[in-house]
Amino acid sequence: MLRRLHAQQPASFAFTPANQAWAEAQITKYPEGRQASAIIPLLWRAQEQEGWLTRPAIEHVAGLLGMPYIRALEVATFYFMFQLQPVGSVAHIQICGTTSCMICGAEDLIAVCKAKIAPKAHQLSADGRFSWEEVECLGACTNAPMAQIGKDYYEDLNAERLERLLDELAAGKTPVPGPQNGRYASEPLSGLTSLKDFESGRRQYNASAQRAVDVGDGIRRIDGTEVPLIVSWRRKPEPEAPAAAAEPAPAAAGIAPERAEALAKGKPEVDVPMPEGTGTAAPGQPVHDPAPVADAGVKPVGLTEARGGAADDLQKIEGIGPVLEKLCHELGIFHFDQIAAWGPEEVAWMDGNLKGFRGRVTRDRWVAQAKLIGEVGMEEFLRRAKTNDY
Ligand code: FES
Repeated sequence: MLRRLHAQQPASFAFTPANQAWAEAQITKYPEGRQASAIIPLLWRAQEQEGWLTRPAIEHVAGLLGMPYIRALEVATFYFMFQLQPVGSVAHIQICGTTSCMICGAEDLIAVCKAKIAPKAHQLSADGRFSWEEVECLGACTNAPMAQIGKDYYEDLNAERLERLLDELAAGKTPVPGPQNGRYASEPLSGLTSLKDFESGRRQYNASAQRAVDVGDGIRRIDGTEVPLIVSWRRKPEPEAPAAAAEPAPAAAGIAPERAEALAKGKPEVDVPMPEGTGTAAPGQPVHDPAPVADAGVKPVGLTEARGGAADDLQKIEGIGPVLEKLCHELGIFHFDQIAAWGPEEVAWMDGNLKGFRGRVTRDRWVAQAKLIGEVGMEEFLRRAKTNDY
């Protein structure tokens, strides 16, 4: 397929102020003289802002990077991720038509696009809001068939789900990306058969889908204000301490004395109070939550053994896997109604004392989940859990 610039082009292009700041920051990632290495992220940002990649945008990016226009044009025309003609104002649907997806029903998805959007790829829908195309393998073959919409992957699709997705997009919603058939990631549809420990503490969606939900800058044009500009690579290295300098006193180092003492004894950090603001966060992301504290709250009253000798399946609660369930059992927690009865004090204690899983009770809303199980029963709970309706 020939990829060339569209016949009709806008007169000019400029990044929004926030996108311009973002672009200038990206350029600083590269060594002097290698600024052209930033071409792909900058072209992509221009496309995210405008919807497609115009000639003025390509020229603008080339100018920012101090490279000849033709070099930027070579990149833009080589990669199919760059749209060289106008796309739907709401969404451009990229259906993978390669082997795995084709075997699993990509042709049905393309039929939906033809019926609901336009008969031919790259044509705009009658209202100008949607367009589609077939693309080569997007690397999510175990979740075939799939489509890329904006920067997100929608996987395990079928014709009916794609139709609904299009309707939701048309209604202004941003459907949650990732598997669309109840799978968490790319495990067997019936659930994990091995490595089950990794189910512990997982969030509602798999990491990339959760990130898309958390950031919330999915299928729409972006102006750069959606996410704070983070330039962690610009941080200056800490000056090296003089060799003979004594260790700073704990207080001077900003470490609580009891934490410093525990660290000195080699005690795991999870067991000791942490200063506020040291909770975990994705690399490069600001930390929002104060770290749970081990001696806060009140230890929940546990049982010596499960009532009637049969514990509830605590792993039904989103976020509890085999490891956390075992920890609960060690604390005498065997039943949903025990968790449902926890107040803020018990939650605080659990958050601070689940070794290796601090803060999970609050983060994954164990109490709300356990209460709901008691109120509506397991079947209805599991139905609602899929949509985080608790
Ligand atoms: S074949 Fe469709 S993602 Fe690989």
